Amino acid sequence: MAGSVLVTGGAGYIGSHACLALIEAGHPVVVLDNLCNSSPESLQRVGQLCGEEPLLVRGDIRDRACLDRIFAEHDIVAVMHFAGLKAVGESVEIPLEYYDNNVTGSLTLLAAMQAAGVNNLVFSSSATVYGDPATVPISEDFPLAPASPYGRTKMMVEQILTDWQCADGARNVALLRYFNPVGAHPSGRIGEDPRGMPNNLMPFVAQVAVGKRDRLFVFGDDYPTADGTGVRDYIHVMDLVEGHVLALQDIIAGPGLRVINLGTGRGVSVLDMVRAFEAASGRQIPYEVVQRRAGDIAACWADPGRAAQLLAWRASRSLEQMCIDSWRWQSDNPRGYG
Ligand code: NAD
Ligand code: UFG
Repeated sequence: MAGSVLVTGGAGYIGSHACLALIEAGHPVVVLDNLCNSSPESLQRVGQLCGEEPLLVRGDIRDRACLDRIFAEHDIVAVMHFAGLKAVGESVEIPLEYYDNNVTGSLTLLAAMQAAGVNNLVFSSSATVYGDPATVPISEDFPLAPASPYGRTKMMVEQILTDWQCADGARNVALLRYFNPVGAHPSGRIGEDPRGMPNNLMPFVAQVAVGKRDRLFVFGDDYPTADGTGVRDYIHVMDLVEGHVLALQDIIAGPGLRVINLGTGRGVSVLDMVRAFEAASGRQIPYEVVQRRAGDIAACWADPGRAAQLLAWRASRSLEQMCIDSWRWQSDNPRGYG
């Protein structure tokens, strides 16, 4: 594939790992990121790991002039669209910021792509679009019922992209629904660097292990699951971004719209995660069971069959590997990118 991939949100957690995977697969990248939740240090480290630092354009996906300049100055053949806000609780408090950033931002990006004749897009969607599923595992044809403004932004952008693709058969779109991305590059040089109190389980556990927080709060142990704690499908970020590279190559090879779950197909409870992290880190993870978190569901894991069929992709890294790599990142970089 000649030309570069524009990676929006490329300085962030998943985006930085995707940049590395793209460059290693021979696809040059240009990053557009406003750095509202990331550091340019992530891209410098990507450069150290692969010998080619991604070009960073500091700008906003809602800035049409900035997008037009990028498409005019670079030979962009495809876009991987990670940029957006992602905190479920925050989206309930400031919904307009979420709709503006995630939906208006995506519309502005699409309009600029259309003007520049760029037809290929891989979009970061989320298993949150399924809401509380009637059964597990979850396949792509399950009904969509997101329970938060954040989830609704993802569903809306999926619908917009479906209509955009349908309007012109030359357009190619992959909607990738991630389950719970965790872990870090095995070098320990790039990883997840949440600002303030982590919302998600794995970074919280990692901060307890490194001594930054004194204990984990387990949000409920009275769910109808084997040990009573919430069950999720944690997927190693390296598996996730390998799925992205394959999805990109797939849409470029054959036009159309694909909707694909990216998960392992395995459910892991909060207490399974605590035990696995203790084994990987050699540290104790003290925890206290507290009330359920509003909006949480009992159990959620993927049917990853479509990804296997369409992309010949399966997540291969174990829970142990996720914890080992997360611990290496956390212990080598106790203050994140600093
Ligand atoms: P992240 O916050 O680390 O990365 C997002 C990046 O986008 C950041 O670098 C941020 O600075 C940038 N950004 C945000 N708004 C922007 C804007 N208007 N213009 C330009 N840049 C902007 O998050 P992440 O975990 O890497 O998630 C990436 C994508 O994957 C997001 O769209 C998120 O909703 C989606 N996703 C994440 C998860 C998860 O658990 N991490 C799960 C499902 C889906
Ligand atoms: N949990 C705790 N204590 C914590 C944090 C989480 O017990 O401090 C529990 C939760 O109750 C849940 C499990 O750990 O049972 C996982 O919680 P996360 O917050 O890590 O993940 P969620 O499944 O709630 O949500 C994440 C992202 C969403 C995304 C969804 C599906 O935050 O944006 O995965 O991809 F939509």
